[in-house]
Amino acid sequence: MTALLKIENMTHSFGGLTALQDFNLEINCGQITGLIGPNGAGKTTTFNLITGVYTPTKGRVLFEGENITGKMPHEIACRGIGRTFQNLRLWRHMNVLEHIKTAHYSQISYGLPGAFFGTAKRIKEEQEIEDNSYSLLKRFKVHHFADHLVVNLPYGAQRRVEMARAMATKPRLLLLDEPTAGMTPDELIDMINIIRDIHRDYNIAIFLIEHRMKFVMELCQHIKTLVFGEIIAEGTPEEIQNNPKVIDAYLGREDLH
Ligand SMILES: Nc1ncnc2c1ncn2[C@@H]1O[C@H](COP(=O)(O)OP(=O)(O)OP(=O)(O)O)[C@@H](O)[C@H]1O
Ligand SMILES: [Mg+2]
Repeated sequence: MTALLKIENMTHSFGGLTALQDFNLEINCGQITGLIGPNGAGKTTTFNLITGVYTPTKGRVLFEGENITGKMPHEIACRGIGRTFQNLRLWRHMNVLEHIKTAHYSQISYGLPGAFFGTAKRIKEEQEIEDNSYSLLKRFKVHHFADHLVVNLPYGAQRRVEMARAMATKPRLLLLDEPTAGMTPDELIDMINIIRDIHRDYNIAIFLIEHRMKFVMELCQHIKTLVFGEIIAEGTPEEIQNNPKVIDAYLGREDLH
């Protein structure tokens, strides 16, 4: 079986600093994989290399068997990799529903004549986009903010809007960079349930970065631990929690709850 995402010996340097060294990974359809490690370990850099923000200095990224190394971010998104950002990237003065609708426009099929002349196909498709956007907002529990400007939302709600936007592109692989950062313990539990539902209903693969161990351990089937750009351990949540190298380099050192 071809892996959904396969990364071979991916390495990246920023000038003299090697942020990631010989990173290997396979994610199969529907699998939830976690990436953990201390600040500056190279986790966000890994996402930026997969999504075309940076081109690896060495190595390859294959998605559904095709080499996507060095492709532009929008090409990679169109192929089926959605993502959220550690530092939110939302249009602060656009309303919440418009955010999600805009993300659908990579998939419309009514074309230029439809856009100009308001064909029946266009009207039908616009309605579907509106309905689908609203139901995504409901899933992420931000539907009551549909007509609010993003800038006026609480931080946790902004994070959920960003996830709904990523889902609107219909990804087969979703990359989440610290999805629960800044959330309260109650919001964290909510988010675990939302991700579980999304995963079950859309059967997507998820690759997530988190410092909140409850989130990682409850959701992930497989976890990789990155320290100074190198994988020091990988395995099931139980194996990772009990691995002395991981405890020493990461788990024992931070307030991770
Ligand atoms: N654009 C850049 N230019 C130069 N150095 C960078 C750049 N982006 C990241 N780095 C460096 O690469 C290393 C890895 O950074 P990265 O952001 O990937 O870490 P991280 O594991 O996501 O950390 P955190 O948990 O704090 O988000 C760090 O030393 C960082 O300073
Ligand atoms: Mg990061």
